[in-house]
Formats: sequence, C-alpha cells, structure tokens
Amino acid sequence: MEIIVDREALVRAAREARQQAYAPYSNYRVGAALLAQDGTLFTGCNVENASYPACICAERVAITKAVSEGQRDFAAIAIVTSNGGSPCGICRQVMNEFAPEMLVIIADEERILAEYTVAELLPAGFGPEHLP
Ligand code: THU
Repeated sequence: MEIIVDREALVRAAREARQQAYAPYSNYRVGAALLAQDGTLFTGCNVENASYPACICAERVAITKAVSEGQRDFAAIAIVTSNGGSPCGICRQVMNEFAPEMLVIIADEERILAEYTVAELLPAGFGPEHLP
C-alpha cells in the first residue's frame, strides 16, 4: 500500500535541513526531505566545496543517505530553496534510478510552488530497465 504523504510536514523537514546548507560559494541554500515508503525520513542539504565540481546537491545527499541505510523505495521528496528552484539534471537522473513515480514537491520558505513526478521532470529517461 502507498504511504500517504504529509506534504506540509515534508516541506517543514526540508526547510529545517536547508539551515545546514554549506553554500559559501553560491550562497544558494537548498534543503531536501525524502520520504521512504515505510515512513522513514531522510534529509539533505547542499554541500559545496572549494573545488566546485565536488559540490553535491541536497537531493542527492538525502538519496545517498537513504540508499546507504538500505532504503530504495521512495514516496516523495520535498525540495526547498529561496525561489522555487527545481532539481538539476543530475538529481533528476538519480531520482529516476530509484523512483520514477515519486512525488517531487518544490517549495520556498513560504509555500509549496509546484508538484511533479520524477517521470514528468525527466521524460523518456534512461534507467535500470535499459541495462540487461
Ligand atoms: N543545488 C541543489 O542542492 N539542488 C539542485 O537541484 C540545484 C542546485 C545546489 C548545488 C549548489 O550548491 C547550489 O545549489 C548552486 O548551484
């Protein structure tokens, strides 16, 4: 059975995670909260680096935390920025790996701005089903 997503609670958790953002280079702070189908919550923030390509997005921090703890079955992710920024292409690809049907909630500090599925954000994506 699919878990019921408490959108406001998920966004609150992402806002909280955003406070941990380490973004001294871009000053663009991102928080994410990922809900697994069993109800477990994983949060993430962006973590930048003086070597810019080593930066990691909030979404991938949350997803890698979850996968490294044995969770791969995801219901929803909330992403909070200052201005409703939506997930980058690499994060879309990583979300697609595990959960093409996952709900993606985009929010700022005030409100929810948009909702999509991963498949809507990455149409005709390349996924595990393409590799024999
Ligand atoms: N960022 C995220 O955390 N998630 C996204 O999907 C878009 C971009 C971060 C990466 C970098 O630390 C900052 O935002 C500016 O690109």
